[in-house]
Amino acid sequence: MVNKQAIEAAKEHFGKVLEEQLERVERLKSEEDWTDFGSISPIIIGILGGDGIGPTITAEAHHVLEYLLREQVDSGKVEFRTIDGLTIENRAAQLKAIPDDVLEEIKKCHVTLKGPTHTPERGDGWPNIESANVAMRKALDLFANVRPVRIPKEKIDWIIFRENTEDMYAVGNQGINVTEDLAMDFRVITSQGSRRILELAFDHAKRNGKTKVTVVTKANVVKTTDGKFLDMAREVSANYPDITWDSWYIDIMTAKLLDVERRHEFQVMALPNLYGDILSDEAGQIQGGVGTAGSANIGKVYSMFEAIHGTAPRMVKENRAQYADPSSVMRAGAMLLSHIGFEELGAKLHKALDVCGQYERTLVMTGRSTGATGTEFGEYVMATVQEPDLESRWAKYSGA
Ligand code: IPM
Ligand code: MG
Repeated sequence: MVNKQAIEAAKEHFGKVLEEQLERVERLKSEEDWTDFGSISPIIIGILGGDGIGPTITAEAHHVLEYLLREQVDSGKVEFRTIDGLTIENRAAQLKAIPDDVLEEIKKCHVTLKGPTHTPERGDGWPNIESANVAMRKALDLFANVRPVRIPKEKIDWIIFRENTEDMYAVGNQGINVTEDLAMDFRVITSQGSRRILELAFDHAKRNGKTKVTVVTKANVVKTTDGKFLDMAREVSANYPDITWDSWYIDIMTAKLLDVERRHEFQVMALPNLYGDILSDEAGQIQGGVGTAGSANIGKVYSMFEAIHGTAPRMVKENRAQYADPSSVMRAGAMLLSHIGFEELGAKLHKALDVCGQYERTLVMTGRSTGATGTEFGEYVMATVQEPDLESRWAKYSGA
């Protein structure tokens, strides 16, 4: 028997979700300008340690950033600020994805470097509050999740542009149990949201000498929302006649990343949020583990840089946190440097990480006592960054 009351309640809830999303679309229509870091002084960099392995790996990245930016700090161009309170204990106590005072501090910074934060799930002992990542991406409108993966010896140079505020994530905590047996979540894809991530992807391709953008959906099955994302890709691509683009379905795409013969042919990839989440973990694993991959959450006003992975509860439980690889947050730090206008410093840190993590590998991270600790690896990267001949050392390995 159809439960009319349940349907009415669900309709009402859905109506509210629609209202909020339509208001959001209106806000998206009147977008701000990009922050001009050249004209800002001081550029404030917030550091948030996070949970689990977060504080230790973030500390390594913080050290190297402080070293690289020492002159800018001395001259007053850059300021570091440590922000406490984005811990699962505090978030749970306040029943907030991001406690208000913490969000206020974050908004006083231009960019942040953030350690992974625990994302509660029903039954894990914490209140089932929204993910701090997802909340921050929405609150600061960090619409582009940019995730590079490079494996020079395989000629792989991928960059993933994952839409970061829509899709299953937009109202992921506003689904409904219509009845005891029927659960529904809602997927949000907008023209504006799709266009801006696709434009960024095509623009990146154009500015960086790339020739192809690969758009990934499941538009053959998820016809309306993925269909719109693909329609927007068609529209945006028309403005980039020199860039070719192709459309792949997410299932075959995950398979193709395992095709050792062909995978280097992918260059720039653009995807809706959830597919991008999944594909970027796979790509990070191919690079040498998710612990090696950094991630930029870019908005026009604010940006946040982080590892692509989580807090590694298994490592913490098994007392292996000290063996967590800080490369991911250090890569994020390198992306932060480039984003705020210090491209050379960013490139330098990327090169040191290439030398330490990909080429020379004097210290190897295994995630356990068979390998180096995060601190040892952090010191190795720091020493490499400080070497006057880093450039030639990197060039020798990379064949550049
Ligand atoms: C990521 C993470 C997050 C996500 C989690 C922590 C909510 O997996 O940044 O990829 O799903 O986006
Ligand atoms: Mg993820």
